[in-house]
Amino acid sequence: MTIFNNKSEIQDHISKAKSKGATFGFVATMGALHNGHLSLVQSALQENDVCVVSVFVNPTQFDNVEDLKKYPRTLEQDVALLKTVSNSILVYAPSVEDIYGGNTKAEHFSFDGLEFEMEGQFRNGHFDGVGTIVKRLFEIVMPNIAYFGEKDYQQLAIIKKLAQKYNLPVIVKGCEIFREDTGLAYSSRNSRLKPDYRNAAPFIFKTLTTAKVRFGTKSAKEVTKWVETQFAKNKFLELEYFVIADIETLKTVKRKSKFKTYRAFVAAYADDIRLIDNIALN
Ligand code: PAF
Repeated sequence: MTIFNNKSEIQDHISKAKSKGATFGFVATMGALHNGHLSLVQSALQENDVCVVSVFVNPTQFDNVEDLKKYPRTLEQDVALLKTVSNSILVYAPSVEDIYGGNTKAEHFSFDGLEFEMEGQFRNGHFDGVGTIVKRLFEIVMPNIAYFGEKDYQQLAIIKKLAQKYNLPVIVKGCEIFREDTGLAYSSRNSRLKPDYRNAAPFIFKTLTTAKVRFGTKSAKEVTKWVETQFAKNKFLELEYFVIADIETLKTVKRKSKFKTYRAFVAAYADDIRLIDNIALN
């Protein structure tokens, strides 16, 4: 396992290997790695000669200082976990200085409106921060294929848009949500859930699964109402939004069309921990 903290060192290493024909798969993370991340790493290892994993808690994508402070930082544990998958992974764990120099600010992007839906309404500036870091990481790592989980489906759509708009020479691949046996989607935030909230959290996916069945015969409005009622009865989870959206535009569906593809999206608080999940509907 080689760990790089410095962008010129990893760039140099990757450029040399690329000139000999090696292909690179890339998994960008903020650390606190879990099985969901490892499944992305497995895909990267299967489809490329080398896998690079970045571990960087990106300050510019947090709109809440407390959330940034509390975000788990567990590099040693992360490296140990990656070693269980393969010893040949390259880890890039830069400092804020290495990425941002003296200017820890996000660039401003237009993602053709994708950034204003769902998460965009609740997390001010979040996608500018994500766009800034992912563009920089792509420039440093120069991957052939980059892997992102569908749990952050809106983020995935925005990163695909970023690559397309800036003609970045990378294939952005979405990977299925990795779930516990209970159905709860793996997330770095799960480790912070207190027992009662941990036990309550699988309700999110259970409700999404039933919403999917209901969407077969009911309107988007009826399904949305039903989901909101279910959450209102749950004393451990507070719904922030439930949205059924067109997967191309991420806009809330007004009237169902059999020619379009939809997904249902949830954000909910379990105590002070914000969880998100989504499901394909058709
Ligand atoms: O999904 C994440 O963990 C982050 O948003 C990402 C893509 C690593 C950028 O910081």
